Amino acid sequence: MCGIVAYIGQREAYPIVLKGLKRLEYRGYDSAGVALINNGLQVYKKKGKVAELENHVSGKDMRSHIAIGHTRWATHGEPSDRNSHPHVSGNGKLAMIHNGIIENYAQLKQELLNQGHIFKSDTDTEVLTHFIEEIQKSNHCTLEEALRIALKRVVGAYVIVIVDEDNPDTLIAARKGSPLVIGVGKGEHFLASDASPIVEYTKEVVYVNDYEIAIIKADELILKNISNERQTPYIQKLDIELAAIEKGGYDHFMLKEIFEQPQTIFDSLRGRLDAKNGTLTIGGIREHAEMLSKAKRIIIVACGTSWHAGLVAEYMIEELCRIPVEVEYASEFRYRNPVVGPGDVIIAVSQSGETADTLVAIESAKEKGAIILGVCNVVGSSIARLSDAGAYTHAGPEIGVASTKAFTAQLAVLCLIGLKVAIVKGSITQQRFQHLLDELDHIPEKVAAVLKLNDRIKEIAAKYKDARDFLYLGRGYNFPVALEGALKLKEISYIHAEGYPAAEMKHGPIALVDENLPVVFVATRDSYYEKVVSNIQEIKARKGKVIAVVTEGDQVIPGMADDIIMVPEADELVAPILSVIPLQLLAYHIGVLKGFDVDKPRNLAKSVTVE
Ligand code: G6P
Repeated sequence: MCGIVAYIGQREAYPIVLKGLKRLEYRGYDSAGVALINNGLQVYKKKGKVAELENHVSGKDMRSHIAIGHTRWATHGEPSDRNSHPHVSGNGKLAMIHNGIIENYAQLKQELLNQGHIFKSDTDTEVLTHFIEEIQKSNHCTLEEALRIALKRVVGAYVIVIVDEDNPDTLIAARKGSPLVIGVGKGEHFLASDASPIVEYTKEVVYVNDYEIAIIKADELILKNISNERQTPYIQKLDIELAAIEKGGYDHFMLKEIFEQPQTIFDSLRGRLDAKNGTLTIGGIREHAEMLSKAKRIIIVACGTSWHAGLVAEYMIEELCRIPVEVEYASEFRYRNPVVGPGDVIIAVSQSGETADTLVAIESAKEKGAIILGVCNVVGSSIARLSDAGAYTHAGPEIGVASTKAFTAQLAVLCLIGLKVAIVKGSITQQRFQHLLDELDHIPEKVAAVLKLNDRIKEIAAKYKDARDFLYLGRGYNFPVALEGALKLKEISYIHAEGYPAAEMKHGPIALVDENLPVVFVATRDSYYEKVVSNIQEIKARKGKVIAVVTEGDQVIPGMADDIIMVPEADELVAPILSVIPLQLLAYHIGVLKGFDVDKPRNLAKSVTVE
């Protein structure tokens, strides 16, 4: 979703901002723009890729020591040059970039239209720019003061950054709900929606909090709250390396991230799982394990791939802890006035830690007295900070829009949480606990074995890439894996794909089955295996093409299926971590073979920061 970059300091600002915009391309966007001060305010913006903006400004004098840049993901108004950011005030002096949504923009716009303002775009951002200008004019106040007054009237979520032609040595920024990171250099500052544009310049960062305004000069950073009180900037050290946000020899970030999984799963277990000594330590929930073991129910809220991880966790936690678990789409949970309050435990699962629906869902649950646990990947993210406790997934930066390594790390961490609660509660035997610790301990090497099947999966991808639809089926722990496989394919190959519980298939999707429909079965050996075999026969009887992910040594399904992918044997509770990997690779290869940009699929955003 929208990406924000800004720079102020001694260096040339435009190249830094441009490079930053390229680093943020992974978030998903449809237009880009920059503003700088060079003989007055200069604004350049273009629908399309950052490279098109780069061409558009080529040959222009872009020298400046202050600049703001933006990648836009359209919300108000179609993607177009005029709707792209930055937006400029009526007097042409202020330029603003914005991430988020101003919900009461229509009302503000009407007031401004009545006062004679003329708008050039359909955006809420331009309205806010004019609104601030109008306050500045009628109150004869500074930009900072006008911003403060404006934000008290604004409803919605935002990060904004403003440059002012009359103050070319100052950037002003504010945040509510959307993330803003400020990199602190020597005599320079870098601003961005996430750390990726900053990491090559400085490791010292400040995360701006909600309702804070930052006044940033080359050598000074002042933070104030909305009541104009100075706040102490808390400088944190970034723990990511530049290599983590580069492709490292792979064709795509998605492939790199799929192949990183033996390491990222290991990292998510490291320091927590000690299979040899039979112990499990999760520092982030240590003080809450007892409370969790007494929870009457657990509600998991998430979106997208993280929601699928939540579904697997439902099976894991119910089995291990005997606590009822509900898994909710964050957006639905928030707005249906759910029955939630003290005694409820909410687990928010989110790679980015910034997904707006998940964030507002936990905000409202927290207000009602629920305890919030966060399972996030991005350290210091909004959901992580709002949570009462939690565990990071430690998968490292995920750049490919289609989530892969974050999913398997989420499964690993949710399994650890389930095991911890179960052992505290006494709901599993010591023997089963030890067995599952051993199973998890061996998962990274088994994942590495699955990745060796890449060439075979590429052949299967070539065989089926022209199919119009796909069906993905699984039961039990493998049902959410089927959903995730279908989502991966949709996201990056634009082929229509549906995931279904294999038995439920008889109540509808079976009508789609003919010789043209590839049906992917996730059919590893588990307690549902015999039933899944029957479901495969039902598909074959109707001439469907079956691609099956099975356990090594399976003697039955290879005799029925058209294509087989064999993964190592694993306990059914941890098997999803293995069985999802062939589906990630299948989607990847089909997307690439069809010629699509798998890292930046159309219309999708990596981090969905609007509700
Ligand atoms: C977007 C991304 C998905 C992701 C979902 C939830 O739709 O494209 O890959 O699963 O958001 O994101 P989160 O950061 O909360 O896990």
